[in-house]
Amino acid sequence: DWRMGDYVTEAVARIREQVGQDHVILGLSGGVDSSVAAALIHKAIGDQLTCVFVDHGLLRLNEAALVMDMFAGRLHAKVRHVDAGAQFLGHLTGVTDPEAKRKIIGREFVEVFQAEASSLVDARWLAQGTIYPDVVESGGAKTKKSKTIKSHHNVGGLPETLGLSLLEPLRELFKDEVRELGLVLGLPPEMVYRHPFPGPGLGVRILGEVKAEYAELLRRADDIFIQELRSTRDEATGKTWYDLTSQAFAVFLPVRSVGVMGDYRTYEHVVALRAVQTTDFMTADWAPLPMALLKKASSRIINEVRGINRVVYDISSKPPSTIEWE
Ligand code: XMP
Repeated sequence: DWRMGDYVTEAVARIREQVGQDHVILGLSGGVDSSVAAALIHKAIGDQLTCVFVDHGLLRLNEAALVMDMFAGRLHAKVRHVDAGAQFLGHLTGVTDPEAKRKIIGREFVEVFQAEASSLVDARWLAQGTIYPDVVESGGAKTKKSKTIKSHHNVGGLPETLGLSLLEPLRELFKDEVRELGLVLGLPPEMVYRHPFPGPGLGVRILGEVKAEYAELLRRADDIFIQELRSTRDEATGKTWYDLTSQAFAVFLPVRSVGVMGDYRTYEHVVALRAVQTTDFMTADWAPLPMALLKKASSRIINEVRGINRVVYDISSKPPSTIEWE
């Protein structure tokens, strides 16, 4: 698209002018907004940008490898991969309350990011993938200078603490424009059209206490479900069910139910599959996935993930249910 091409040229010039020779840090989450911001800023200033990817151990299967391959591997950007899984899990031990879990994850995230950021002594700017709807949501549209921090990145207060200025090159763009920009910058469609993933990650998809072994089972079940959504097309539209849903994932239920496998009785955990269709995430309908897709996802999960012997499909809409289970 030529308009987006022009936009890139302009945005690159603006970023260069804004930061000059300074160094910039950016928290890369693997989500669309921070990925597009990283690709754009990297195009503008190359090695003056350092991305910090905080891996809290509650990411999806292969997430860290995907992010590192894309940004360090293909784009040759400077990326620090901070493997903080053990630290996060340690602080979550014994914690079952959903809001308490969110708080802990948010607090640890700030701490880890801050430690990384302050070790980059040259950094003068903190870049964020804030987009126009985030600006409006927090009332910042009127006051252009308001220091909006995207809440789910949980880095509120960081620029002040670190003495950094904010760089938000996507502030004027809507989500569809951000996606288009990502494509023009060479990011793959799978990355640009990804479902949203909550900041606390699997931390709120493992009900109750978060344990490493639960996260391991959930990651594998979730990955199978996503594979099936990506590989099953709707005949009427020709689109995949991944593209026909707004968000889809597996949830780990820390209860056990009885099953049989061969001659044995099993007593293992349950996974719920959730897939919703929505435009604004404020209301959402459960997705009418084809029976064949559900059947295949269920039998693959039960056969391939030892420790799960039952799969259920969530048929609740929002409201009164929420999209996530916690
Ligand atoms: P609910 O469950 O409230 O979710 O219907 C609405 C949307 O918000 C996402 N969500 C979160 N995102 N941090 C985030 O970054 C959170 O703590 C959080 N909780 C929910 C959810 O994935 C859905 O897209």
